[in-house]
Amino acid sequence: MDISVQSRPQKADANVILLVEEDALEKGLKAVFAPEFGKTFVKPSGNEFRADILAGLGKAKEATKEKIRRAASLAVLEAKKIKADSCVLHSRSCGKLSEEDFASAAMEGFILGDYAFDKYRTDEKIHVKKLALGCSSKSERRIKNLARRTKTICDNVAFARDTINDNADRMNPEAIAVLAGKVAKESGLKIRVLGKKEMEKLGMNLILAVGRGSQYEPKLVILEHKGNPRSNETTAIVGKGITFDSGGINLKPTGFIETMRDDKSGAIAVLATIKTLAELGSKANVMAVMPLAENIVGSRAYKPGDVFRAYNGKTVEINTTDAEGRLVLADAISFIEKEYRPKAIIDLATLTGACLVCFGEYVAALLSNDEKLAGKIFEAGQKTYERVWQLPLYDEYREEIKGETSDLKNLAYNNGKYAGVITGAAFIGSFVEKTPWAHLDIAGVSWYEKDRFHIKKGATGWGVRMLVEMLEGF
Ligand code: BES
Ligand code: ZN
Ligand code: ZN
Repeated sequence: MDISVQSRPQKADANVILLVEEDALEKGLKAVFAPEFGKTFVKPSGNEFRADILAGLGKAKEATKEKIRRAASLAVLEAKKIKADSCVLHSRSCGKLSEEDFASAAMEGFILGDYAFDKYRTDEKIHVKKLALGCSSKSERRIKNLARRTKTICDNVAFARDTINDNADRMNPEAIAVLAGKVAKESGLKIRVLGKKEMEKLGMNLILAVGRGSQYEPKLVILEHKGNPRSNETTAIVGKGITFDSGGINLKPTGFIETMRDDKSGAIAVLATIKTLAELGSKANVMAVMPLAENIVGSRAYKPGDVFRAYNGKTVEINTTDAEGRLVLADAISFIEKEYRPKAIIDLATLTGACLVCFGEYVAALLSNDEKLAGKIFEAGQKTYERVWQLPLYDEYREEIKGETSDLKNLAYNNGKYAGVITGAAFIGSFVEKTPWAHLDIAGVSWYEKDRFHIKKGATGWGVRMLVEMLEGF
């Protein structure tokens, strides 16, 4: 979608009005449309537009950025229904929200709300092609910058959604490494790709074990954005990149396996985040790390009962081949900590079904060894509405992942039935030596079973907006 910002209104197919109750009264609109939040109304326009699309925001004093995103996403659906190619939307201050807050939230809701994974549909694809944002002349310059920024972020959320939604065979570990190479070239990022041979030399036997059953080689991709060359400090964001999680020899049953191409959501979120930071010319120093493997059955696949030596020398017993995310993250994180010494490590992983049991699709679990880092992530989540909630990582949980014939085991506590989110995090945390670290279990938030406003059924692209917000202020 093409975005332009002007202080003067222009010609377009539809005029989009995000309406608060106070305004409806003033304009005498209340008789035809009571602008409750969530309601929309389309009417022929009396002037240069084909239609007016009204979307209710409720009371101005109760307006929030998320309500504006949602109202804008409902408006864009109406625009698509009447096949409006171009829309005008006027920004304004609203209750406690500034004109800038209003503009960025409206653009987010409008652009993300227009998203559909429709590349495999052969019928007509309808999208709004142009959005002209109207604003006061005093805010024009600032809102122009904000529009560029918001469009860059939203386009990358769509890039993440497209990459995760696509066929698992198309987005296999080797293909994603190639895609990362293309991103690196186009966005000016440094890239290092470790293949099977390099990982064998380095002793990354956990990543290798998980990827052993696949026709595709596992890969470890490291991308670097150096926004501030005068500083040697960098933050590592690490994403679980299981391109398809069949469960392995512990095969997942029907009802649990269908969406498992989303098990790379963490890796794609960190890829889209560093791509965004590069495109924004961000001053932050960040590295994105993607351990990529396919967890599939086959005669060479790793087996329950096997013991492997991790990159850091610890041995791990495999109780189930379906707890594979913690294995690839363990090798990736201990390697990054040792070789690159980042000031903080944040991992994102679709790690456990237990996270869905706990939070549904609305909140990601946050576990950390550092309260300050956890606080920063929490704040960024509140701002972007990609919300997180912290769970405790008490020492008792670490006891539960100790092995009998090995140092560690990949299934804890009553065969994994108790405290699954926490014991998963405890396993990963036992591979961090001293660096501030935070783990986000995104199993619930990364995939939606139905459309919800600007977040559509399927891959959500969760984490890109939150991470950009967090890393730019860190
Ligand atoms: N990728 C799954 C977790 C998952 C479940 C993600 C549902 C998204 C939606 C993960 O690898 C897995 O299978 N975890 C096991 C862990 C258990 C065996 C300790 C699980 O949650 O059952
Ligand atoms: Zn699994
Ligand atoms: Zn998995």
